[in-house]
Amino acid sequence: MVRSGRLHPWLSQSALSPAGRGAEEIAELFWWMTGAAAVIWLVVAALAVWAVLGGPAKARPAAQRAMIIWGGAVVPTVVLGGLLAYGLSLLPGLLAAAPPGTLKVSVVGEQWWWRVRYHPAQGVPFETANEIRLPVGEPVELELRSADVIHSFWIPSLGGKMDMFPGRPTRLVLEPTKTGRFRGVCAEYCGASHALMAFDVLVLEKPEFELWLEKQRRLPPEASGIAAEGRDLFLANGCASCHAIRGTAADGVIGPDLTYVGGRLSLAAGTLPAGAESLRRWIARTHEVKPGALMPHFAMLPREELDALAAYLESLK
Ligand code: CUA
Repeated sequence: MVRSGRLHPWLSQSALSPAGRGAEEIAELFWWMTGAAAVIWLVVAALAVWAVLGGPAKARPAAQRAMIIWGGAVVPTVVLGGLLAYGLSLLPGLLAAAPPGTLKVSVVGEQWWWRVRYHPAQGVPFETANEIRLPVGEPVELELRSADVIHSFWIPSLGGKMDMFPGRPTRLVLEPTKTGRFRGVCAEYCGASHALMAFDVLVLEKPEFELWLEKQRRLPPEASGIAAEGRDLFLANGCASCHAIRGTAADGVIGPDLTYVGGRLSLAAGTLPAGAESLRRWIARTHEVKPGALMPHFAMLPREELDALAAYLESLK
C-alpha cells in the first residue's frame, strides 16, 4: 500500500521520530544526553539551594575539601567522559560503508532543487528530481554532490545530515526501518530560496518499490487531446532546452527531469502541493514562488496554453 499521506509535519521531519537506523541511534543519543543533563541540572540546583541556606559553611573543613574535589573534578570528568565516549562510539556505525550490492542513488544539490539519479543493479540508470523513493529495511548508498554552492542533505527522520560540496562527493548510507512519507531539507544556507529547497521521501515495501523501479524504466503514456497540445507547447516554448522527458524530443539537462512529474508528491522542490493548479502557478509565476530561480516565468502565455501545459505535465504519471 502506498502511504503517500503526510504525517503531521512534526513527525514527517523530526529527528525525534526516527524511521531509519541512523536516526534511531541519533535519537537515542539525544535522549541520553538530555536525561543526563536534566539529572546534572537538578543536582546542581539542589546544591545551589543548599549553599544559599548555608549548608556548606556548617560542614567540617575536610568535608568541604572533599566536596570540591569530588563535585568539581571527579564527577564532571567521569560523567562528561562517559557521555563523550558513548557519543563517539556511534560514529563508526553512522559512517560505515554500505555492504556490496547496495542500491546506489546519486543526489546533486542545485539552487534550489535536487537532481536524483538511480543506479539500479539491473537496467540503465535513470533520473528524477525532488523526490526519493526507497525500499524499507534495506540500506541505500547516497552519493552527494553540489552543482553550485554548498548545500546540506538532511532527512531528519531517516539519518544524520551530510554536506554537499562542489567538486568533492560525500557519501551517506541510510537504512529506513518504517514505511511512510517523510520530508528532506537543505540544511545549509545556499542563497535566496534556501528555505524553498525541500524534497519528499517515500519509503515503500520492497515489492512496491520494485514496481516503481520497473515503471521508471518504461516511457510515460503517449499524450492525447489537450495533453498533446500541451506537449507541443512544451516543445515550442523552449521548455525542452532545460528539461528532459524520456520518449520525447525534450532532452535538456539544466533543470529537473520531468519524465514522471505528474506522479510526484509535490512540486518545485517541496514548495507547492502536486496538481494542475500548482503547475500553472509555477509556470506563470516562477519568480514569485521561488525568488531567484533560474527558470524564467511564462506569465505571457494565455490561460488556455497554461491549462494545456499543466494537463500535459499532469498526464506524465
Ligand atoms: Cu541548498 Cu540550502
